[in-house]
Order: sequence, then structure tokens, then C-alpha cells
Amino acid sequence: MSDISKRKLKLKVSAIKEGTVIDHIPAPFLFKVIAILGLDKIKNQITFGTNLESVKLGSKAIIKVSDKFFRNDEINKIALIAPHANLNIIKNYEVVEKKIVEIPNEIKGIVKCINPQCITNHEKVTTCFKVVATNPISLKCKYCEKLTIGEQIRIQ
Ligand code: CTP
Ligand code: ZN
Repeated sequence: MSDISKRKLKLKVSAIKEGTVIDHIPAPFLFKVIAILGLDKIKNQITFGTNLESVKLGSKAIIKVSDKFFRNDEINKIALIAPHANLNIIKNYEVVEKKIVEIPNEIKGIVKCINPQCITNHEKVTTCFKVVATNPISLKCKYCEKLTIGEQIRIQ
């Protein structure tokens, strides 16, 4: 791809002065990421683009949140749905730090338990899993102790 086309792609969502750019979100999970990070409830300026071309993902989404710097435990909540997401911390228009998301030890909400009998599938109980392995990712339900593994993982 020529430099000009690369620049055009990047300029689809304009640069920010201060804040966080979350790049390489799988396009189908953009609104899930927004919900998980609570971006629908804050007053910061937010811009996003979706169904953008990506060499890695086919189509990706990007979110830019002005004046917001996430804690690692906040951002790691998106690791299951956006494992290749990367964060760019922007200060005075410059990228001052790049971070990747890491799978946390515990996942609250987000994922459904595989066990049809599990209380979380019958009552209004937030799911909670301990991450017991990462490749493939294996989640142990805190309530019924059943494992939900890899491809079985369903996002709520
Ligand atoms: N960005 C931004 N505002 C700025 C600086 C950067 O929105 N003031 C965005 C860019 O558009 C890009 C991301 O932050 O999406 C990372 O910027 P940069 O590291 O300059 O881009 P790349 O070199 O392409 O990094 P990567 O390959 O990691 O995407
Ligand atoms: Zn369960």
C-alpha cells in the first residue's frame, strides 16, 4: 500500500490531543467494547470508526477517547473479545506509550457459562470465572465449577 493510501486510512478518524486510542478491535465487537468500558456513560469526547480495513483482522474498529487514561484492570476486561487490541496513550498529540491487553485472572460478566443448569443461566446473577488456562482459554465458573473452553465461549 502506498504511503498516501496508508495516511488516508489513518485519517478516517482524526487525531486527538490527549487520551487513549484503542486500535484493532474486531468490528463486530465495537459496541460490546464500548459497553464493557462504560464509554456510553462518560462525558469525554469519543470518536470511533468501524469496518475499517485491517491487514490483521479483515475489518477492525478503532475508538479514541479524549482525556481518558485507563487502568490496566479496566482495559484488560476487553481481552476476551479484543485479544489483539492495542492502546496508544496520547499526550500533546504524540503517542507516548503503547500497550497491549492482557487476559485477566478473573472475568466478571461478559461471558456465558456453558452449563445449562448453572444458576447464572436461570437467575439474574452476574457470571464470574477464574481463568485457569490461556491457550486455549479455559474459564472455570465460580458457581458451578464447569469449564467453558476456547470455541465454547459465548459473549453475553
Ligand atoms: N493517533 C491519534 N491521535 C494522535 C496520535 C495518534 O489518534 N495525536 C492514533 C493514530 O491514528 C493511530 C494510533 O493512534 O491509529 C497509533 O498511532 P501511531 O503509533 O502514530 O501509528 P502507527 O505507527 O500506525 O501505529 P500502529 O502500527 O501501532 O497502529
Ligand atoms: Zn456456571
